[in-house]
Amino acid sequence: MTRSAIVGTGSALPARRVSNAELAERVDTTDDWIVERTGIRFRYIAGPDETTATLGADAASAAIAAAGLAAQDIDLIVLATATPDQTFPASATKIQAMLGIHDCVAFDVAAVCSGFLYALQVADSMIRVGAHRRALVIGAETFSRILDWDDRATCVLFGDGAGAVVLQAVADDAPNGILATRLHADGRHNGLLYVDGGPSTTGTVGKLRMKGREVFRYAVTNLAAVMTETLAVAGITSADVDWLVPHQANARILEATAKKLGLDPARVVMTVDQHANTSAASVPLALDTAVRDGRIRPGQIVVLEAMGGGFTWGAAVVRF
Ligand code: UT7
Repeated sequence: MTRSAIVGTGSALPARRVSNAELAERVDTTDDWIVERTGIRFRYIAGPDETTATLGADAASAAIAAAGLAAQDIDLIVLATATPDQTFPASATKIQAMLGIHDCVAFDVAAVCSGFLYALQVADSMIRVGAHRRALVIGAETFSRILDWDDRATCVLFGDGAGAVVLQAVADDAPNGILATRLHADGRHNGLLYVDGGPSTTGTVGKLRMKGREVFRYAVTNLAAVMTETLAVAGITSADVDWLVPHQANARILEATAKKLGLDPARVVMTVDQHANTSAASVPLALDTAVRDGRIRPGQIVVLEAMGGGFTWGAAVVRF
């Protein structure tokens, strides 16, 4: 029997970093409001030559290098994104071409902010059944391109970026590996966080719309529930968790969720202040940050979680 283990992480950000004060020059908002309500201080905004695929490819290259592998070792690419370069082909195939891989399986997964958790479970399952041995799981987004810059309630919250992990098949009794994943969706709430356009409806790309207060209410409940469920499947409790790497939507959601689980806030990896909400990129971006700065070490138990449009939500328990 095999399972999969995370053997390398990487991330990439656009060159341009934008502070709350810079945003306040063109949007009716203040640094104080954004920091107090969300914890966000900066976000990165992609330039014309930076796309979901270029950011995703840069993050993937960094993850492959961290794993000590070559691009040709990869036999599966799963990209989580809600902002693909084009409606089709899948941006995963553009990343594949950029990496110089000419024959592997490559496709996109759309679950918005939960996309990385969905992509992780898909790739983990494909490795468990023996179809693949080394997978790239990428979360990459350019939400700046679908923001309504006249809607202060949403445009200050999001940023662009990418994160990636390399998953490798390991024996079931290996010291490291993905111990459990759980996913959920409840489409009754798909009108609370959505884009008001698309190829089959308006024929346009559309702009992001969100009823923030309602989303906030569901987020804490759903995230605490799915983490409790996933920890139980892994056969451990929150006392065993070394690090929580949550979706970075709002510092207040992160704090409330950790509290509900009885987790020490010092064990929560928080990057929302630096990156804002990067949707599917936020979990792997935060994970790579904490791996590279030495917080996450081999043997430790790490919990990943996210919730987003749909609603979709999920969690994973990983031993590094
Ligand atoms: O990644 C997917 C998951 N997404 C989330 O988890 C987002 C969840 N929601 C949230 O994080 C919060 O609901 C927000 C940060 C979006 C909003 O915080 P809030 O405390 O729920 O504020 P609110 O929307 O209820 O707005 C409060 C006030 C309003 O003014 P009035 O009506 O009280 O006079 C807004 O007009 O704040 C005003 N406001 C702003 N003021 C300055 C809204 N946006 C801004 C802004 N700057 N950018």
